Amino acid sequence: MITETELSTLSSSVAARLSEKRFAHTKGVEEEIIRMGAIYLPDRIPELRAAALLHDVAKELPLEEQIAICREGGDRELETATRSPAILHGHAAAYLIPKTHPKYDLPEIISAIYKHTTGAEKMSTFDKLLFLADFIEPNRPWTFCRDTREKFWSSMPDDPDARLRHLDLTVLSVLTFTLDYLRSRGTDPDPTTERAAAALKRIYPDETVSIQ
Ligand SMILES: [Fe+2]
Ligand SMILES: [Fe+2]
Repeated sequence: MITETELSTLSSSVAARLSEKRFAHTKGVEEEIIRMGAIYLPDRIPELRAAALLHDVAKELPLEEQIAICREGGDRELETATRSPAILHGHAAAYLIPKTHPKYDLPEIISAIYKHTTGAEKMSTFDKLLFLADFIEPNRPWTFCRDTREKFWSSMPDDPDARLRHLDLTVLSVLTFTLDYLRSRGTDPDPTTERAAAALKRIYPDETVSIQ
């Protein structure tokens, strides 16, 4: 059980660790995940909010420190993640939180934070909500993020099964965009992101994913 007071204390603790800009993004992810949670996981909203508040808690630590935290935590994907330093902070946060915020050392929170930068071959609905909220929160300035957010909310189906498919296809469009973007810049995407996209494509082989 996570109370409103605990979430407020957590928010202040995270604010003290992050720059103003990063904290504004964090609060945007929290806002977005509350809205998504009301539809997809109405009984997990406090946990979703905690995951949103904590997801970037390691992002502003020096890279060397992020690597050291992952190494100490026994991160099996450390070698691959180190090749794309931008994704390391999700792993580092997952190993840091049990020490800094043990109250939130819950498997669903740690899993979603670990996977939030890359996606993963196996993602729970909780994982998908954090992944997507991080990408489309209202402070994101980029056209694709804004368009994805607009489309996600304006075409939300009424039927619960159709809503899950809608979430999957939106996550797939974000993964596909990320892969295309990285390749267009001559960067090799993280293999976890490739596996995440491939896993969703296997479920929806006939879907054409539009990435605007
Ligand atoms: Fe992040
Ligand atoms: Fe983020």
